[in-house]
Amino acid sequence: MKKDLDFLLELGWAYWKSQVVFAGVELGVFELLKKGDKESAEIAKRLGTDPRATGMLLNALVALKLLYKKANRYQNTPIASQYLIKGAPNYQGDRIHHLHNLWVRWERLQEAIRTGRSVVEETEKEPDPQKVRDFMTSMHNLARMKVKILLKKLGVKPFHRLLDLGGGPGTYAIAIAQKNPNLTAVVYDLAPNLEIAREFIKEAGLEDRVTTQVGNFLEEDLPEEAFDAVLVSNILHIYDPPTNVSILKKCHKALEPEGLIIVHDMVLDKSGCAPLFPTFFSLNMLLGTCSGASYREEEIKEWLSKAGFSRIKTRFLDKDSAIIIGAKL
Ligand SMILES: C[S@@+](CC[C@H](N)C(=O)[O-])C[C@H]1O[C@@H](n2cnc3c(N)ncnc32)[C@H](O)[C@@H]1O
Repeated sequence: MKKDLDFLLELGWAYWKSQVVFAGVELGVFELLKKGDKESAEIAKRLGTDPRATGMLLNALVALKLLYKKANRYQNTPIASQYLIKGAPNYQGDRIHHLHNLWVRWERLQEAIRTGRSVVEETEKEPDPQKVRDFMTSMHNLARMKVKILLKKLGVKPFHRLLDLGGGPGTYAIAIAQKNPNLTAVVYDLAPNLEIAREFIKEAGLEDRVTTQVGNFLEEDLPEEAFDAVLVSNILHIYDPPTNVSILKKCHKALEPEGLIIVHDMVLDKSGCAPLFPTFFSLNMLLGTCSGASYREEEIKEWLSKAGFSRIKTRFLDKDSAIIIGAKL
């Protein structure tokens, strides 16, 4: 009984945990402690924050296992060192910050449930450059974590010309090109996002093999039979089923015969009630898009088949996501 009550009440205050993590990341606590432990007063002085309040935040971060406290001095735990220090290969701070950006939408969940519509204001649809950057760097944090397993599950495929449709920061195209020196790739996306993709491509030294193409794949056709692989990563959850079939048909046209499509996305189980993250992500799409949602594996396979793909198979990357591969015969 006590356990059930604790579970229930924690569902009510779980957002306190999120806010403590947002504060720790955005005030720069972990960054400040990257070179070693410090006392609370010094941390407050260096961050320019109130000493009493800072002590409270630091203790809560200890309770969340993101800091240690020894003899009144605070230091990063391995989780914080691995994921919350800028420049670390597995850095996730941008992703945490992006989750905070989504807070204003989630506060309006009940409104979205009543109306069935996104709560994104018209003004937000003209994207704020900082928000675009936050979103792209967040995608980059996530993709860097997933790309190894994606490549492993994909197996060695002799692609020569890849289209990374809605490629965002280009992380997957870059990683696939790094693994395959004979490959050229095109990252296709809206103009503001590609500015950031170009920075990552340059950083990887791949400007000769990974290029960008500005476009809107809903409004424009893709070049015909121009690629032997098309990656559609985290795109289908933005749109409704008929739109997804039409996107996949465009991908089919863009592929040479024997070319492969690789759909990468979150996948719900048959009940639609699990895993936890995709069920919540579906609500996130309700809040932020006109018609997006998380989908079941079977739905995605059906769209691929309607778009003309054969030999469709699924490989799970983790409990929440999969690649679903199809061939143009
Ligand atoms: C969720 S992000 C995924 C980025 C990347 N594929 C990944 O998995 O990391 C979705 C991307 O699709 C792009 N996108 C969505 N609709 C688009 C459209 N109609 N035309 C071009 N790009 C689009 C967005 O701009 C964004 O960069």
